[in-house]
Amino acid sequence: VDENTPTQVLEARNIDAVAKYIQEKNVRHIVVMVGAGISTSAGIPDFRSPGTGIYDNLAHLDLPDAEDVFDIGFFRNNPRPFYALARELYPGKFRPTVAHCFIKLLHDKGRLLKHFTQNIDCLERQAGLPGEMIIEAHGSFASQHCIDCKAQFPDELIKKAVQTGEVPRCLECKGFVKPDIVFFGEALPEEFFLNRHLPEDADLCIVMGTSLSVQPFASLPGFCKDGVPRVLINMERVGGMGSRPDDVLLLGDCDAGVRKFAKALGWLEELEALWEKT
Ligand code: APR
Repeated sequence: VDENTPTQVLEARNIDAVAKYIQEKNVRHIVVMVGAGISTSAGIPDFRSPGTGIYDNLAHLDLPDAEDVFDIGFFRNNPRPFYALARELYPGKFRPTVAHCFIKLLHDKGRLLKHFTQNIDCLERQAGLPGEMIIEAHGSFASQHCIDCKAQFPDELIKKAVQTGEVPRCLECKGFVKPDIVFFGEALPEEFFLNRHLPEDADLCIVMGTSLSVQPFASLPGFCKDGVPRVLINMERVGGMGSRPDDVLLLGDCDAGVRKFAKALGWLEELEALWEKT
């Protein structure tokens, strides 16, 4: 291999080498870490892609700073912008992507140790990945509580509120109700900290569809031990991915990347069949 070996030849060779490693070493402790990029092909915008990302499309909410829409201090003061956005993002009308199905396939084959997601769309659950395999580091829309008295708020009432765009108020104390999504300024779930060293036990790490721009999630790939391969499947190179000799970069669309990976593993038909019925 020399410096003028075309990238795609390098990638193909590398992902074939990872597929071989998985089969020959019977790799069964794969840790996957994902972000919004694995859900964009489902129709859910990511946050930072120029032009299409959520943060480029909040002008109509005239926020001082786009990230205020997920800021707990801003929400206490004015929850309307969040609920305007929640209407577009609320789970129920989206279908999991091929990338979600690839993760489910890793689990079905007994090769997934843990799946860490920053996404709040619950599409991993919808793809059939069992809850105990998933760490939702930034929470999700799966439940909601009052931000003042912490009382739980009924699912059917939040769904109605999100549809009408009104701000749901606590039945106990009239405080604002917020889905259990981790806002800027809030702590991540304890479950994240209890599991965040798991990449140290991994025999392969796969990072997909994330800019690795938000801590502490972005530190996860660094816990993967030296000498353990790390695969990045992403439109662009991010974080420290590619800095280690065992790193493999599959730059481009996530769905295309997991198909390439599945093909190298001999799992492509199974992946397509799984996606067909999702
Ligand atoms: N295929 C491959 N890569 C993609 C695709 C795609 N179809 N779509 C987007 N990407 C890439 C983008 O190029 C970018 O590198 O996915 C990444 C998405 O990055 P972000 O938009 O920053 O999303 P994410 O990394 O999940 O954001 C992290 O920021 O706003 C907070 O809490 C929020 O969880 C979120 C966190």
